[in-house]
Amino acid sequence: MFEPVLLRNMDVPDGHLLSSYEARGGYQALAKALREHTPDEIIDLVKQSNLRGRGGAGFPTGLKWSFVPKRADKPKYLCCNADEGEPGTFKDRIIMERDPHQLIEGMVISAYAIGAKTAYVYIRGEYVLAIHRLKQAIAEAHAKGYLGTRILGSDFNFVVHIHCGAGAYICGEETAMLDSLEGKRAQPRLKPPFPAVAGLYASPTVINNVETLVCVPHIVARGPDWFRSIGPDKSPGPKLYCLSGHVRNPGLYELPMGISLRELVEDRAGGPPPGRRIKAVIPGGVSAPLIPERGLDVGMDFDSLAAVGSMLGSAGVIVIDDSTCMVKVATRIIEFFHHESCGKCTPCREGLNWVVKVLRRVEAGQGAPDDLEQLEALCKGIFGNTFCALGDGAAMGLRAALAHFEHEFVAHIEKGRCSFH
Ligand SMILES: Cc1cc2nc3c(=O)[nH]c(=O)nc-3n(C[C@H](O)[C@H](O)[C@H](O)COP(=O)(O)O)c2cc1C
Ligand code: SF4
Repeated sequence: MFEPVLLRNMDVPDGHLLSSYEARGGYQALAKALREHTPDEIIDLVKQSNLRGRGGAGFPTGLKWSFVPKRADKPKYLCCNADEGEPGTFKDRIIMERDPHQLIEGMVISAYAIGAKTAYVYIRGEYVLAIHRLKQAIAEAHAKGYLGTRILGSDFNFVVHIHCGAGAYICGEETAMLDSLEGKRAQPRLKPPFPAVAGLYASPTVINNVETLVCVPHIVARGPDWFRSIGPDKSPGPKLYCLSGHVRNPGLYELPMGISLRELVEDRAGGPPPGRRIKAVIPGGVSAPLIPERGLDVGMDFDSLAAVGSMLGSAGVIVIDDSTCMVKVATRIIEFFHHESCGKCTPCREGLNWVVKVLRRVEAGQGAPDDLEQLEALCKGIFGNTFCALGDGAAMGLRAALAHFEHEFVAHIEKGRCSFH
């Protein structure tokens, strides 16, 4: 039986308050980190744990931290990515609303490891309650000596600022986020230089997702071997899965990394509504290519999903049942990407514009016989040719829908209407 780790305080009354967090062992990992470990030792612990970033790309966290120069003549920064713009994803919000001190503790330990004295939480403006609770938690942590100067009597000083985004998906892309923090229009930056070397204000910067940071206190408290004992060795740890769409029990689940997608959807989330069958599942937010029902026995971890041509992404699991038109699904998703394209590069800006036009006419039953070839040609022009992963995500998703459900697109064109309504 798996015991929740990251969500263990979810149902505690007033769990967002410092007193509740402390009563359940909160900030003891921070005390241990400052008392027993040097910053380099914390980086080693995180490396040994094989923790991989939970924001989407799955980059090894300890390795990322080790890229920050030890000696720098500029201040170092930690940025917490709390933009959570990927449709189908709501894990970071729940942590910040119900257990904000868990995030603050993770940030203080992470900042100690990389030598940052200042951090920003970049949070989407719509997360009103999370913003309120985080501000409250930061004030409480200051008053108790977990933030500020000489934290817990050590030589370490650290402050956290909240920065509210104005609602653009691209602000979740880490370098666009840095531009937004600097007060510029958010557009991805050319890499290299990578943020660890030249990030916020051209200073060494680590950007990590909320869920990544909340894993850190548990690795310090319980050790890297414990973390690696959960799930696959190359991609271990407790994992948050956001279940939405056509399932009986939607919501946030914490289970081991690597659990089978079928178990997650059919057993844990209760399967599809009565009388319906699952048609396909998007496993990692709409950037992740969908998986048809017959492929659901795949493990929910970075490597297993990559091996079947999809990805874990943000673990926003969207279930689609057999009452749903896949042309409609594909069109709504591409409309989202088109709307959110930042416009910096031509294949994404222009390509998605054309893809939306073609998809809309196919959906409306006015498609031309060669429209599917057009769509494939457009995907070819976008995939691998864009400045950031937004364009790739859009093209991969559409290609998966076309590959697995081509007959539905063909039926729309041949019949001149949708067969689902
Ligand atoms: C278009 C786009 C949107 C993204 N949105 C988010 C987001 O909302 N939250 C997030 O943590 N990462 C997001 N990412 C991934 C970040 O660029 C980055 O990889 C991540 O914040 C690094 O943290 P991690 O190593 O802890 O995963 C996005 C990437 C792209 C390309
Ligand atoms: S791929 Fe799209 S979102 Fe990314 S830089 Fe190019 S135009 Fe902007």
